[in-house]
Amino acid sequence: MSQALDEVKIGGLGSSRQRVEDARFIRGRGNYIDDLKLPGMLHMEILRSPLAHARIISIDTSAAWAIPGVRLVLTGEMAAQRNLAWMPTLSYDTQAVLATDKVRFQGQEVACVVADDPYIAKDACEAIVVEYEPLPVIVNPIQSLAPDAPLIRDDKEGQTDNVCYRWEVGDKQGTDRAFAQADHISRLKLHYPRSHPSPIECCGSVADYNAATGKLTVYMTTQAPHIIRAAVALVAELPEHMIRIVSPDLGGGFGNKVPVYPGYVCSILGSILTGKPVKWIEDNFGNLISTGFGRDMYLDSELALRKDGKILAVRFHADTDQGAFFSDAQPSKFKIGLVHSAFACYDIPVGHITARGAYTNKAPGGVAYRCSFRVTEAMFFQERMIQAAAADLGMDQAQFRRINLRRADDFPARTPFGFLVDSGQYHKCLQLGLDAIGYEDFKREQAQARSRGRRLGIGISTMTEPLGAGNSREYDILGIKMFDSAELRVHPTGKAILRTGAKTQGQGHETTWAQIVSHELGIPADDVIVEEGDTDTAPFGMGTYASRSTPVAGAAVSMVARKVRAKARKLAAHLLEVSEEDIEWELGRFYVRGAARRGVTIQECAMAAYTNMPDGMEPGLENNAYYDPPNLTWPFACYIATVEVDPETGVWDVLRVVAVDDCGVRINPMIVEGQIMGGLAEAYAMANMQFMTYDADGNMIGANYIDYLLPTAWETPGFELHEVVTPCPHHPIGAKGVGECAAVGGPAAFVNAVMNALEDTGVRNIDMPVLPDRVWQAIQTGRDVSGAPPVRQD
Ligand code: CDP
Repeated sequence: MSQALDEVKIGGLGSSRQRVEDARFIRGRGNYIDDLKLPGMLHMEILRSPLAHARIISIDTSAAWAIPGVRLVLTGEMAAQRNLAWMPTLSYDTQAVLATDKVRFQGQEVACVVADDPYIAKDACEAIVVEYEPLPVIVNPIQSLAPDAPLIRDDKEGQTDNVCYRWEVGDKQGTDRAFAQADHISRLKLHYPRSHPSPIECCGSVADYNAATGKLTVYMTTQAPHIIRAAVALVAELPEHMIRIVSPDLGGGFGNKVPVYPGYVCSILGSILTGKPVKWIEDNFGNLISTGFGRDMYLDSELALRKDGKILAVRFHADTDQGAFFSDAQPSKFKIGLVHSAFACYDIPVGHITARGAYTNKAPGGVAYRCSFRVTEAMFFQERMIQAAAADLGMDQAQFRRINLRRADDFPARTPFGFLVDSGQYHKCLQLGLDAIGYEDFKREQAQARSRGRRLGIGISTMTEPLGAGNSREYDILGIKMFDSAELRVHPTGKAILRTGAKTQGQGHETTWAQIVSHELGIPADDVIVEEGDTDTAPFGMGTYASRSTPVAGAAVSMVARKVRAKARKLAAHLLEVSEEDIEWELGRFYVRGAARRGVTIQECAMAAYTNMPDGMEPGLENNAYYDPPNLTWPFACYIATVEVDPETGVWDVLRVVAVDDCGVRINPMIVEGQIMGGLAEAYAMANMQFMTYDADGNMIGANYIDYLLPTAWETPGFELHEVVTPCPHHPIGAKGVGECAAVGGPAAFVNAVMNALEDTGVRNIDMPVLPDRVWQAIQTGRDVSGAPPVRQD
């Protein structure tokens, strides 16, 4: 008779276990970077450039040095003496740590002050006198790429224009041939605006260089501590084992905390030069004006269509506005991230993509903001294009998708851009979504409302996206292969500690990783503590971004638990005095085949590993696993929104939102739902209210949370969530990533709904955010509304 444990009861797979980390977060007992106080610690503030493009004539720091309590005033020139005025970026570019020659965007770091307290440091920054010679400013990549544009990166040898990369993928000739045979060609141009990940906690670091031991410890807000350690070792030429990076509790990351920022480097330099720990805490203004922007992409695309609705080919060109430095963190091979995952859920025979990156006088952009390296732009553009093409053919948008979506028996399938998609039930998800929203009834209601002058709209967004980079064959950052890791130690009493190379920023890894151990070993999840983010203790990993944790680190957790189970089986055989071949496993215990009552629990095996191991066996019960996934995971989602647009004001209200997500096996359904709701809230904000904009002089309009809007519970609509489960064929527990799906796929559902409400006006596109004045303007003029930043006319 089975004595297996009830998996859900012990907090294993499928249990909506409450988040263990919340016990400290909701009591104010989290340990964030600004909570850290080290003896003798000094404070650093940064002086930022008020101009977007200017030559630095002189920097006078004498008044700052004279302020009591100031310990160090650091300029680019001083950093240059230590070869640290510039640093390499994660995209093989260079970025100024402190400006020496020119400033290239408003908010760029020019100098910094280390003082006894942050207020003195701030006052001293204001006492620094910088003389600038203004230069022409460019905030629009189309202008930046024009032949006569002023050169922004004159620091780079051989750079004669503002192009920072060119990239191409697909079959140009085959695509041209397919277009020549098309019955109809649909075209769409759009701009995905610059947005900001807006974690509640800004960036910060406490650098502590101990001259006596030669050890550098940096506590910092990073989503990828091991990459930072390797980068610091290479750039600062310090031995890697003498560098310890600790990423404590993070108040959100969303991609913002992947790059290396000048503030981190300056705090390290500050600590080396003063011999004291130096803390840098970025304020909201500094964060909003200078760090980690997402998107800012211009897309111009075409679909070749047969008149029955079949898509024959796709081609598009993307220009990205990278800002002054190309500092994206993305796999080295792919200059524009995974934008070529666009259309992966559709059965399209051929396609061709060209892409170009432009330097402009804006802060560096292009981080994977809740996104797998630009899949957000790819999926938004895909779904806007699908809707426009359906409308061009006069075809129902759901039916158009049915014709082109891959079928459940199509897998595995290769996309025209080389990805292998391995599983999914796209039609089932779409139908579930349509049924949930009451598609046909809504269309009837819409027609009746239209006859009374009301404008209702329905928007669909269906997409699969690649989550879980690597595999190591194709994915690396700065040459470091993308895989991940886990290390599990089971103590004598059967309690355990798990460490991984990922780093949670609020996603709940401390809860869900323990659930995977529980599933594999039958140890109650409450008996497993999870630790991440300390490079001295955690195994080497690539960190958390691009929803890669579950697909890669989560898989490593399974694999290490299985290794531990394999050793525990040997211990069980020894305890039960039978050969290993006669041992069976059920959740939580081993037993003798044919004599199920004779068994030992996993905890008894753990005790034996330290007290009663067989002769010749190494003591202890622990192991580690490095997991290199065979493929990415491919979750699928169908988001449907209904809206009403007020033609008098352009204001649009969301009526309903239905979400169907298939992320394979769900470790913790409650956490998954939280991820989807959070993603949808961000999607709604991007569609409706958020953009980082600049005037023609490069002044950032909106480096504050009065102008850059975060959605609150007041304006965020309700979400109705549904689930389909198609296990990932290669993941050890069948899970696929989910963290970013709704933020990636959601925006198009809202914009498509508004565009559907305006379908009879001839307007084909309104760029995000779809603000009421843009909608009103579109209705009045019958013309598309662009959101591209201004072109300077002088
Ligand atoms: O990399 P990141 O943690 O941001 O994204 P993720 O791997 O998609 O996971 C987000 C959260 O959802 C984590 O706590 C996961 O363990 C959880 N999750 C889950 O419970 N089941 C899945 N199939 C996928 C994620």
